Amino acid sequence: MTLSINPLTEHIGAEVQGVDLTAPIGEETFAQLRDALYRHTLLVFHDQQITDEQQVALTGGFGTADMMLPSDPAGDGGPIAILSNLDEKGDIIPPDDSRILYTIANTLWHSDGSFRRVPLRGSLLAAKVVPPTGGETEFASACASYAMLPDEKKAELQGLVAEHSMAHSRAQIAPDLLSDEFLKDTPPVGQLVVRPIPETGAKALLVGSYAARIIGWPIEKGQALLQELLDWVTQPQFVYRHNWRVNDLLVYDNRCCLHRGRSWDRAVCKRVLHRTTLAGDGPMT
Ligand SMILES: [Fe+2]
Repeated sequence: MTLSINPLTEHIGAEVQGVDLTAPIGEETFAQLRDALYRHTLLVFHDQQITDEQQVALTGGFGTADMMLPSDPAGDGGPIAILSNLDEKGDIIPPDDSRILYTIANTLWHSDGSFRRVPLRGSLLAAKVVPPTGGETEFASACASYAMLPDEKKAELQGLVAEHSMAHSRAQIAPDLLSDEFLKDTPPVGQLVVRPIPETGAKALLVGSYAARIIGWPIEKGQALLQELLDWVTQPQFVYRHNWRVNDLLVYDNRCCLHRGRSWDRAVCKRVLHRTTLAGDGPMT
């Protein structure tokens, strides 16, 4: 089978055809897919009716599958996170329930796991149930946007470290969303604002909802810079919006983009995505 890889926008995203992700994939094909991921940051596959087991195997072809924290409400300590507005019986959870409020933070621009000491390298999302309208996921190129910053701004950002935390992200949605155990498992961490990408030599801006402040700067000045950079990265020319179809599978290089889910009528429509993640290579600071 021949892979065909077609860019979706100038800076981010490509649609991949010619591969069945539910079948075993050879190393040569995986090498092509990893290369495409480095070049396009986001790969979109359609019509992949993939099981959780197959998704975990596929994840292993892109890197090392990471495990959820046992205290994370979206998972059970295994490799799969269920991003869903349904309870165990498959019924819709009321939108004001704390389980839903926790997931509403996904509608803020973020990089997965930037609140962890070793941030995640990538993620895979498989669409099981999607609403008829809304619920899209947007991806913004953190590399193209960095490359297009003025040189003086690049110089200003060199070496800056931002504090990221789960608590900062969830505090923007509602107070008291997180268990004491989860808060204990997720203390604030420092991440470089400009993240080097070794495979390509590119650099990526790491900002978003987990970034609380610039370490060593007055709070307000740091927050103003973080907001300015977030506004820069998420300009329309750097963004691809994905309209989900059932059995879509997306792979994204989490280091090179920010992303956010869009709202939908949560009280009426079901939406279920299964996510696996790729472990990072090591701490950045
Ligand atoms: Fe996410």
